[in-house]
Amino acid sequence: MKLDVVLGLQWGDEGKGKIVDVLASRYQTVARFQGGPNAGHSLHFDGQSFVLRSVPSGIFRQDAKNIVGNGVVLDPITFRGECENIAEKTGIPVTKRIVIAKKAHLILPTHRLLDAANEAAMGKGKIGSTLKGIGPTYTDKISRHGLRVGDILAPDFADRYAKLQNRHMTLLNQMGFECDPHAEDADFMAAVEYLKQFELVDCEYYINDLLKDHDILAEGAQGSMLDVDYGSYPFVTSSTTSCSGACVGLGVNPHLVGHVYGIFKAYCTRVGSGPFPTELFDETGEEIRRIGHEFGAVTGRPRRCGWLDLVALKYAVMISGVTDLIMMKSDCLDTFETIKVCTSYIVDGKPSDQWPFDTYADIQPVYTEFKGWHTDLTHCRTEEELPAEFRDYIAFMEQYLGVPIKIISVGPDREATIMR
Ligand code: IMO
Ligand code: MG
Repeated sequence: MKLDVVLGLQWGDEGKGKIVDVLASRYQTVARFQGGPNAGHSLHFDGQSFVLRSVPSGIFRQDAKNIVGNGVVLDPITFRGECENIAEKTGIPVTKRIVIAKKAHLILPTHRLLDAANEAAMGKGKIGSTLKGIGPTYTDKISRHGLRVGDILAPDFADRYAKLQNRHMTLLNQMGFECDPHAEDADFMAAVEYLKQFELVDCEYYINDLLKDHDILAEGAQGSMLDVDYGSYPFVTSSTTSCSGACVGLGVNPHLVGHVYGIFKAYCTRVGSGPFPTELFDETGEEIRRIGHEFGAVTGRPRRCGWLDLVALKYAVMISGVTDLIMMKSDCLDTFETIKVCTSYIVDGKPSDQWPFDTYADIQPVYTEFKGWHTDLTHCRTEEELPAEFRDYIAFMEQYLGVPIKIISVGPDREATIMR
């Protein structure tokens, strides 16, 4: 059977939560393969809303198993809070529906402090991190100092925790960052005890066994343009957000990858710093932010908004081998007179159709314009109901990107989804 992968293709917040929730009905197992509580996947159904951070989006489906994979960085404190909130509001037996990879790395409270210290030290050049400790935890993983979920079962776990914490305290001292590194020790240890209620697994064996029986959906967090290798470095997150991250992060070989679903919004947003060629600083940008409710699900920050960037999108499609495109929030453009999409750039004065190496280059977007459709798309449920102007716009994108748009979302609810 196959590992289908669902990815964000922009700078995060493409609407992954809703789509994984819609797709989850087709899968018995959903797995997260990278990232951590920097993610905020919003789901809306039956009049309720949830923002999932580390919990896979299959949690609300009765018979689905959810895997927190090797490539994830897990913060026991926020994870516990998230799980208890879901259990309280829904009665879902969360500890039975989620298994956690022993090889996933642990985010310590001092990783979060280091994140804050790093950002403070960078001043104006800061990344705009969500301050969840993501960068410092992956740094410790790669530099071979990290603690993993499976370590919590070791008799000397408390000593190992203290050792890593000491290391962090030295760094925090060197940076002159004032804080109480022990403030959350008790919470952390209590949350570690809570983690022991979950089945802790050798994810690579566990998932390959399940793949003998059924297809699995791998749920990405963040987006391709935040990929540590191929995104707008250094304004990226610290993991592989593109398709190959699913193989590494779950221990599944590339031959087993099936569909690669790539999610994008009908426009672009970005939180935090870094290049954003189509960013709008005018009323149109504000209108998009207002209509799309573009405020961070994790941090509440207003998101930067702009027109769709097909150059960046095509780049993301190439890196991940996207087979099926999914377009979100089309309805947010219902009222615009003219819709623009960026089809090439002028980079430092020269025409280009590629995402540039130089993060600090001057990138001017070149737009193709479309006539607005002036129709409320939120009521459309079939292809035939979609206005002609909108269909032209979709056809143009498919032509440009060379991949079919298989799902069009026309509203936040599960039902507001057109399958093509
Ligand atoms: P979801 O899964 C949007 C951004 C941050 C910052 C940069 C690095 O909801 O799409 P980090 O906390 O990883 O050190 O931040 O990446 N970022 C996101 N932006 N959606 C996300 O997740 C993000 N996770 C991180 O704003 O610019
Ligand atoms: Mg988000």
